[in-house]
Amino acid sequence: MAALARGGPGLLQLTLALIKPDAVAHPLILEAIHQQILSNQLLIVRMRDLVWRREDCQQFYQEHKGRFFYQRLVEFMASGPIRAYILAHKDAIQLWRTLMGPTKVFRARHVAPDSIRGSFGLTDTRNTTHGSDSAVSARREIAAFFPDFSEGRWYQEEEPGLRCGPVYYDVEGGVHCAATSGASL
Ligand code: RTP
Ligand code: MG
Repeated sequence: MAALARGGPGLLQLTLALIKPDAVAHPLILEAIHQQILSNQLLIVRMRDLVWRREDCQQFYQEHKGRFFYQRLVEFMASGPIRAYILAHKDAIQLWRTLMGPTKVFRARHVAPDSIRGSFGLTDTRNTTHGSDSAVSARREIAAFFPDFSEGRWYQEEEPGLRCGPVYYDVEGGVHCAATSGASL
């Protein structure tokens, strides 16, 4: 069986974006962030709203275990509803991180006041959003939130149509779709 495409130059890149409980708790802020995604040419591949189990937060943030903010972060992320997106763009990881702005809210307000964190962040823990920091992290994090999502199948069946267009936004489902689906390729 031929190896499935795994991304690469010229193809759309995937990233995981999370909207944290502080932002989801405010419908206008949630909507403003959603609009930022749409207006910056990021494609929404999948979206789900959920409440995270504490054990899953611990697993997700295990790279930070032992840091002074780890416990606070885990408790906060399990404290209320969150939203998870798989986003696609040629430079999805960097673009989403630029839109979020710096991690620390004081810095975000100072150096990137129009960024998502600069606009809506409350504290370094309640800083509105998460974004994968590398392709390796993105693959792991997407699998954590979307266990049924097959990246290989997506690159085969959906990526060509989304990359080449035309693409439309399905308001009801909150995702982008290729106007002529590549699913039958
Ligand atoms: P993220 O993972 O959330 O996209 O943001 P990041 O890469 O910029 O930040 P990272 O170092 O991975 O930290 C993950 C989350 O931990 C919280 N944090 N608090 N109080 C602090 O000094 C501190 N440092 C990090 C933040 O909520 C950050 O988003
Ligand atoms: Mg990080």
